[in-house]
Amino acid sequence: MNVMQKFLLFSMSLILWNNVIDCKAKKDNTKNCAIKPNLSKTAKVTTDIPASKKINTSDLIDEMYKNIKHQISDTERSMVTKTGGSPVYGEIKFDSLKKVLDDLNIKKTDVLYDLGSGTGKVLVQGYLDYPFKKVVGIELSPTRNHHAETIRKNLEKKNLITKDRKFELYNGDIAKENISDATVIYMCSTCYPEELMAKLTERFSKLKPGLTVITLKALPDNYEDFGLKHIKEYKLPMTWSEGSPVHIYKLEGKAKKAAKKAKK
Ligand SMILES: C[S@@+](CC[C@H](N)C(=O)[O-])C[C@H]1O[C@@H](n2cnc3c(N)ncnc32)[C@H](O)[C@@H]1O
Repeated sequence: MNVMQKFLLFSMSLILWNNVIDCKAKKDNTKNCAIKPNLSKTAKVTTDIPASKKINTSDLIDEMYKNIKHQISDTERSMVTKTGGSPVYGEIKFDSLKKVLDDLNIKKTDVLYDLGSGTGKVLVQGYLDYPFKKVVGIELSPTRNHHAETIRKNLEKKNLITKDRKFELYNGDIAKENISDATVIYMCSTCYPEELMAKLTERFSKLKPGLTVITLKALPDNYEDFGLKHIKEYKLPMTWSEGSPVHIYKLEGKAKKAAKKAKK
């Protein structure tokens, strides 16, 4: 080997040495070894999305809802009352719902129902910030449900609704609409009549054991007869109060048996 050849060999070794061979194949179960260029020590690599591009759900909701009104006509109000519901409107605050849903450790097999979904804010937060495979809203007022539809379409336009996760809205009565696949139920039920609360409690007893019910108004006193267990009570800010009760119930395995017994 002459001097020139030795010099060339030495240079090539140096170039190779200056490359980081990222060979974690065994550890990562990755077959290919990637050779990454050696970056200068001052260069910073980040795979994070810049903060400016990250979606802040609370801000997004504020922006999307700035022109959405929940007021409805007198005719609609009396229709809701005559059906057995309550037309009164109020919402849980973003951080209050966050507290409750964070504590529940939502999984991607979970299905959220908002019974009396109004303009759909709870569903938007649930869909964007938790892995629910489906969120469903049921609302008696056509006007409020129409607003929720508008919001859902906006989310679609922003590509925030994906095919593998559903976002459904129904204009109907929560005492009658299908809720059979619910695993988490939310209801801003403060003004719901006792008869409606009793009917809903009976409906819950027929759902899948493990069901979580989040309700602002407590379930009727005989909830245990329907296989439900009171797990927790929070006091959280709502749009109308700084500390409203939020009750959490769980449906236990013996639900069907208990419900049948209670009916006899
Ligand atoms: C207090 S608001 C809550 C809105 C929404 N869930 C939220 O927290 O942002 C209750 C909603 O339930 C609706 N509602 C009342 N009775 C109902 C019934 N029987 N069936 C369906 N919706 C009902 C009302 O029209 C109202 O929009």
